[in-house]
Amino acid sequence: MEVVIQGDADAVANLAADAIERLVSSRPNAVLGLATGSSPLGVYDELVRRHRSGTISFSRVTAFLLDEYIGLPAGHAATYREFIERHFAGLVDIDPTNVHVPDGTAVDVEAACSQYEQKIRAAGGVDLQLLGIGADGHLGFNEPTSSLASRTRVKTLTEQTRTDNARFFDDVDDVPHHVVTQGIGTILEARHLVLIAIGAGKAESIARAVEGPVTSMCPGSAIQLHPHATVLVDEAAAARLTLADYYRATYAGKPAWQTI
Ligand code: GLP
Repeated sequence: MEVVIQGDADAVANLAADAIERLVSSRPNAVLGLATGSSPLGVYDELVRRHRSGTISFSRVTAFLLDEYIGLPAGHAATYREFIERHFAGLVDIDPTNVHVPDGTAVDVEAACSQYEQKIRAAGGVDLQLLGIGADGHLGFNEPTSSLASRTRVKTLTEQTRTDNARFFDDVDDVPHHVVTQGIGTILEARHLVLIAIGAGKAESIARAVEGPVTSMCPGSAIQLHPHATVLVDEAAAARLTLADYYRATYAGKPAWQTI
Protein backbone atom coordinates (compact mmCIF):
# COMPACT_ATOMS: atom_id res chain seq x y z
CA MET A 1 0.00 0.00 0.00
CA GLU A 2 1.17 3.50 -0.74
CA VAL A 3 0.08 6.39 1.47
CA VAL A 4 0.52 9.86 -0.03
CA ILE A 5 0.04 12.84 2.24
CA GLN A 6 -0.62 16.12 0.47
CA GLY A 7 -0.97 19.68 1.74
CA ASP A 8 -4.56 20.18 0.72
CA ALA A 9 -7.59 18.73 -1.03
CA ASP A 10 -6.64 20.23 -4.42
CA ALA A 11 -3.27 18.47 -4.40
CA VAL A 12 -5.00 15.18 -3.54
CA ALA A 13 -7.52 15.68 -6.36
CA ASN A 14 -4.73 16.46 -8.82
CA LEU A 15 -2.85 13.25 -8.03
CA ALA A 16 -5.97 11.13 -8.44
CA ALA A 17 -6.82 12.92 -11.70
CA ASP A 18 -3.24 12.31 -12.91
CA ALA A 19 -3.64 8.58 -12.28
CA ILE A 20 -6.94 8.50 -14.17
CA GLU A 21 -5.55 10.59 -17.03
CA ARG A 22 -2.54 8.28 -17.35
CA LEU A 23 -4.79 5.23 -17.37
CA VAL A 24 -7.25 6.60 -19.94
CA SER A 25 -4.42 7.87 -22.18
CA SER A 26 -2.81 4.45 -22.31
CA ARG A 27 -6.11 2.57 -22.39
CA PRO A 28 -8.91 4.72 -23.89
CA ASN A 29 -11.48 2.00 -23.20
CA ALA A 30 -10.54 1.78 -19.51
CA VAL A 31 -13.09 0.75 -16.91
CA LEU A 32 -13.37 3.23 -14.04
CA GLY A 33 -14.94 2.52 -10.68
CA LEU A 34 -16.54 5.70 -9.42
CA ALA A 35 -17.46 6.74 -5.90
CA THR A 36 -19.89 9.32 -4.55
CA GLY A 37 -19.74 11.48 -1.43
CA SER A 38 -17.77 14.70 -1.04
CA SER A 39 -14.27 13.12 -1.05
CA PRO A 40 -13.98 12.51 -4.84
CA LEU A 41 -15.67 15.80 -5.84
CA GLY A 42 -12.34 17.57 -6.39
CA VAL A 43 -11.22 14.72 -8.63
CA TYR A 44 -14.34 15.01 -10.78
CA ASP A 45 -13.93 18.81 -11.00
CA GLU A 46 -10.34 18.35 -12.13
CA LEU A 47 -11.24 15.67 -14.68
CA VAL A 48 -14.00 17.88 -16.10
CA ARG A 49 -11.52 20.78 -16.33
CA ARG A 50 -8.97 18.58 -18.13
CA HIS A 51 -11.68 17.29 -20.46
CA ARG A 52 -12.75 20.85 -21.33
CA SER A 53 -9.16 21.84 -22.03
CA GLY A 54 -8.89 18.90 -24.43
CA THR A 55 -6.42 16.86 -22.36
CA ILE A 56 -8.62 13.85 -21.76
CA SER A 57 -11.54 12.12 -23.43
CA PHE A 58 -13.85 9.59 -21.80
CA SER A 59 -15.64 8.66 -25.04
CA ARG A 60 -14.61 5.00 -24.84
CA VAL A 61 -14.53 4.69 -21.05
CA THR A 62 -16.95 2.53 -19.09
CA ALA A 63 -17.85 3.40 -15.50
CA PHE A 64 -19.36 1.47 -12.62
CA LEU A 65 -20.61 3.15 -9.48
CA LEU A 66 -20.08 1.54 -6.11
CA ASP A 67 -23.52 1.88 -4.65
CA GLU A 68 -27.06 3.26 -4.71
CA TYR A 69 -29.94 3.90 -2.33
CA ILE A 70 -32.99 1.67 -2.41
CA GLY A 71 -36.42 3.26 -2.37
CA LEU A 72 -35.71 6.65 -3.95
CA PRO A 73 -37.65 7.34 -7.14
CA ALA A 74 -35.60 7.50 -10.35
CA GLY A 75 -34.46 11.08 -10.86
CA HIS A 76 -34.42 11.93 -7.12
CA ALA A 77 -31.58 14.43 -6.57
CA ALA A 78 -30.00 12.30 -3.83
CA THR A 79 -29.72 9.14 -5.93
CA TYR A 80 -26.14 8.32 -6.81
CA ARG A 81 -27.20 8.07 -10.47
CA GLU A 82 -28.10 11.77 -10.34
CA PHE A 83 -25.00 12.60 -8.28
CA ILE A 84 -22.59 11.16 -10.83
CA GLU A 85 -24.53 12.74 -13.69
CA ARG A 86 -24.35 16.16 -12.00
CA HIS A 87 -20.69 16.03 -10.99
CA PHE A 88 -19.03 14.01 -13.74
CA ALA A 89 -20.87 11.95 -16.37
CA GLY A 90 -23.10 14.80 -17.56
CA LEU A 91 -20.11 17.13 -17.91
CA VAL A 92 -17.75 14.98 -19.98
CA ASP A 93 -18.02 12.98 -23.21
CA ILE A 94 -18.62 9.56 -21.62
CA ASP A 95 -21.32 7.56 -23.40
CA PRO A 96 -24.32 7.59 -20.99
CA THR A 97 -25.01 3.94 -21.82
CA ASN A 98 -21.56 3.10 -20.44
CA VAL A 99 -22.30 4.60 -17.00
CA HIS A 100 -23.57 1.82 -14.76
CA VAL A 101 -25.16 2.30 -11.36
CA PRO A 102 -26.62 -0.45 -9.15
CA ASP A 103 -30.40 -0.47 -9.60
CA GLY A 104 -32.08 0.66 -6.39
CA THR A 105 -35.53 0.47 -7.97
CA ALA A 106 -35.42 -3.14 -9.21
CA VAL A 107 -38.36 -5.32 -8.20
CA ASP A 108 -36.01 -8.29 -7.93
CA VAL A 109 -33.06 -6.60 -6.25
CA GLU A 110 -31.09 -9.80 -5.79
CA ALA A 111 -31.26 -10.59 -9.50
CA ALA A 112 -30.21 -6.99 -10.24
CA CYS A 113 -27.21 -7.42 -7.91
CA SER A 114 -25.96 -10.52 -9.71
CA GLN A 115 -26.54 -8.83 -13.07
CA TYR A 116 -24.40 -5.93 -11.87
CA GLU A 117 -21.57 -8.29 -10.97
CA GLN A 118 -21.99 -9.92 -14.36
CA LYS A 119 -21.76 -6.56 -16.14
CA ILE A 120 -18.51 -5.71 -14.34
CA ARG A 121 -17.07 -9.08 -15.35
CA ALA A 122 -18.26 -8.67 -18.96
CA ALA A 123 -16.52 -5.28 -19.13
CA GLY A 124 -13.25 -6.99 -18.14
CA GLY A 125 -13.24 -5.80 -14.53
CA VAL A 126 -12.47 -2.38 -13.08
CA ASP A 127 -9.06 -0.88 -13.89
CA LEU A 128 -9.08 1.89 -11.30
CA GLN A 129 -11.53 2.16 -8.42
CA LEU A 130 -11.96 5.51 -6.68
CA LEU A 131 -12.98 5.13 -3.05
CA GLY A 132 -13.97 7.37 -0.18
CA ILE A 133 -14.27 6.13 3.38
CA GLY A 134 -17.04 6.62 5.89
CA ALA A 135 -16.42 7.92 9.40
CA ASP A 136 -17.15 4.36 10.60
CA GLY A 137 -14.70 2.94 8.06
CA HIS A 138 -17.26 1.91 5.46
CA LEU A 139 -16.26 1.42 1.82
CA GLY A 140 -19.05 1.96 -0.67
CA PHE A 141 -21.95 1.15 1.64
CA ASN A 142 -20.22 -1.83 3.24
CA GLU A 143 -20.90 -1.07 6.86
CA PRO A 144 -18.85 -2.52 9.74
CA THR A 145 -19.12 -6.34 9.94
CA SER A 146 -19.63 -6.61 6.17
CA SER A 147 -17.98 -9.79 4.96
CA LEU A 148 -14.57 -9.10 3.47
CA ALA A 149 -15.58 -11.58 0.72
CA SER A 150 -18.96 -9.93 0.04
CA ARG A 151 -20.38 -9.29 -3.44
CA THR A 152 -22.95 -6.76 -4.67
CA ARG A 153 -25.97 -7.04 -2.40
CA VAL A 154 -28.46 -5.19 -0.21
CA LYS A 155 -27.17 -3.64 3.02
CA THR A 156 -28.81 -1.77 5.89
CA LEU A 157 -27.22 1.56 6.79
CA THR A 158 -26.09 2.33 10.32
CA GLU A 159 -27.69 5.32 12.00
CA GLN A 160 -24.31 7.09 11.90
CA THR A 161 -24.14 6.77 8.10
CA ARG A 162 -27.76 7.89 7.72
CA THR A 163 -26.99 10.94 9.87
CA ASP A 164 -23.72 11.64 7.99
CA ASN A 165 -25.55 11.50 4.65
CA ALA A 166 -28.59 13.51 5.81
CA ARG A 167 -26.98 16.65 4.34
CA PHE A 168 -27.97 15.42 0.88
CA PHE A 169 -31.65 15.16 1.93
CA ASP A 170 -34.25 17.58 3.29
CA ASP A 171 -34.52 15.59 6.49
CA VAL A 172 -32.64 12.72 8.14
CA ASP A 173 -35.89 10.72 8.08
CA ASP A 174 -35.77 10.85 4.27
CA VAL A 175 -32.44 8.94 4.16
CA PRO A 176 -33.22 5.38 3.07
CA HIS A 177 -32.36 2.54 5.42
CA HIS A 178 -31.45 0.17 2.60
CA VAL A 179 -28.91 0.36 -0.19
CA VAL A 180 -27.30 -1.76 -2.89
CA THR A 181 -23.52 -1.81 -2.75
CA GLN A 182 -20.67 -3.60 -4.45
CA GLY A 183 -19.22 -6.01 -1.91
CA ILE A 184 -15.75 -5.76 -0.46
CA GLY A 185 -14.82 -8.84 -2.48
CA THR A 186 -16.05 -7.04 -5.60
CA ILE A 187 -14.07 -3.89 -4.80
CA LEU A 188 -10.89 -5.87 -4.12
CA GLU A 189 -11.00 -7.27 -7.66
CA ALA A 190 -10.38 -3.83 -9.19
CA ARG A 191 -6.80 -3.62 -10.44
CA HIS A 192 -5.93 -0.36 -8.67
CA LEU A 193 -7.67 1.11 -5.61
CA VAL A 194 -7.38 4.85 -5.02
CA LEU A 195 -8.81 5.81 -1.66
CA ILE A 196 -9.28 9.52 -0.99
CA ALA A 197 -9.85 11.10 2.41
CA ILE A 198 -10.01 14.78 3.23
CA GLY A 199 -10.35 16.51 6.59
CA ALA A 200 -10.00 15.77 10.28
CA GLY A 201 -13.28 13.87 10.34
CA LYS A 202 -11.57 11.05 8.43
CA ALA A 203 -8.37 10.86 10.51
CA GLU A 204 -9.61 8.06 12.73
CA SER A 205 -11.05 5.87 9.97
CA ILE A 206 -7.92 6.37 7.84
CA ALA A 207 -5.65 5.33 10.72
CA ARG A 208 -7.78 2.23 11.30
CA ALA A 209 -7.93 1.36 7.59
CA VAL A 210 -4.22 1.85 6.92
CA GLU A 211 -2.53 0.86 10.18
CA GLY A 212 -5.12 -1.11 12.12
CA PRO A 213 -5.83 -4.82 11.92
CA VAL A 214 -7.66 -6.16 8.88
CA THR A 215 -11.14 -6.49 10.27
CA SER A 216 -14.70 -6.32 9.05
CA MET A 217 -15.27 -3.86 11.91
CA CYS A 218 -13.40 -1.40 9.67
CA PRO A 219 -14.26 -2.38 6.08
CA GLY A 220 -11.67 0.11 4.81
CA SER A 221 -8.93 -2.07 6.33
CA ALA A 222 -9.63 -4.57 3.52
CA ILE A 223 -7.47 -2.40 1.25
CA GLN A 224 -4.47 -3.93 3.06
CA LEU A 225 -5.28 -7.14 1.20
CA HIS A 226 -4.94 -5.43 -2.18
CA PRO A 227 -1.64 -5.56 -4.10
CA HIS A 228 -2.05 -2.04 -5.56
CA ALA A 229 -3.80 0.31 -3.18
CA THR A 230 -3.04 4.03 -3.04
CA VAL A 231 -4.30 6.15 -0.15
CA LEU A 232 -4.38 9.86 -0.93
CA VAL A 233 -4.98 12.07 2.09
CA ASP A 234 -4.62 15.69 3.12
CA GLU A 235 -2.70 16.61 6.29
CA ALA A 236 -5.85 16.67 8.42
CA ALA A 237 -6.93 13.18 7.38
CA ALA A 238 -3.35 11.96 7.97
CA ALA A 239 -3.22 13.34 11.52
CA ARG A 240 -3.61 9.98 13.29
CA LEU A 241 -1.18 7.98 11.14
CA THR A 242 1.68 6.63 13.26
CA LEU A 243 4.04 6.28 10.29
CA ALA A 244 3.19 9.62 8.66
CA ASP A 245 6.87 10.67 8.48
CA TYR A 246 7.77 7.40 6.79
CA TYR A 247 5.01 7.90 4.16
CA ARG A 248 6.21 11.47 3.54
CA ALA A 249 9.86 10.42 3.16
CA THR A 250 8.94 7.50 0.91
CA TYR A 251 6.89 9.70 -1.40
CA ALA A 252 9.52 12.47 -1.45
CA GLY A 253 12.20 9.95 -2.41
CA LYS A 254 10.16 8.19 -5.06
CA PRO A 255 11.92 7.80 -8.43
CA ALA A 256 10.43 10.10 -11.07
CA TRP A 257 9.50 7.17 -13.33
CA GLN A 258 7.44 5.51 -10.62
CA THR A 259 3.82 6.69 -10.63
CA ILE A 260 1.15 5.97 -8.05
C1 GLP B 1 -21.22 7.49 1.39
C2 GLP B 1 -20.79 6.68 0.18
C3 GLP B 1 -19.36 6.23 0.30
C4 GLP B 1 -18.47 7.39 0.71
C5 GLP B 1 -18.91 7.88 2.06
C6 GLP B 1 -18.06 9.03 2.57
O1 GLP B 1 -21.74 6.72 2.43
N1 GLP B 1 -21.64 5.57 -0.03
O2 GLP B 1 -18.93 5.69 -0.94
O3 GLP B 1 -17.13 7.00 0.74
O4 GLP B 1 -20.24 8.35 1.93
O5 GLP B 1 -18.57 10.22 2.07
P1 GLP B 1 -17.83 11.61 2.09
O6 GLP B 1 -16.76 11.52 1.09
O7 GLP B 1 -18.88 12.60 1.72
O8 GLP B 1 -17.34 11.79 3.47
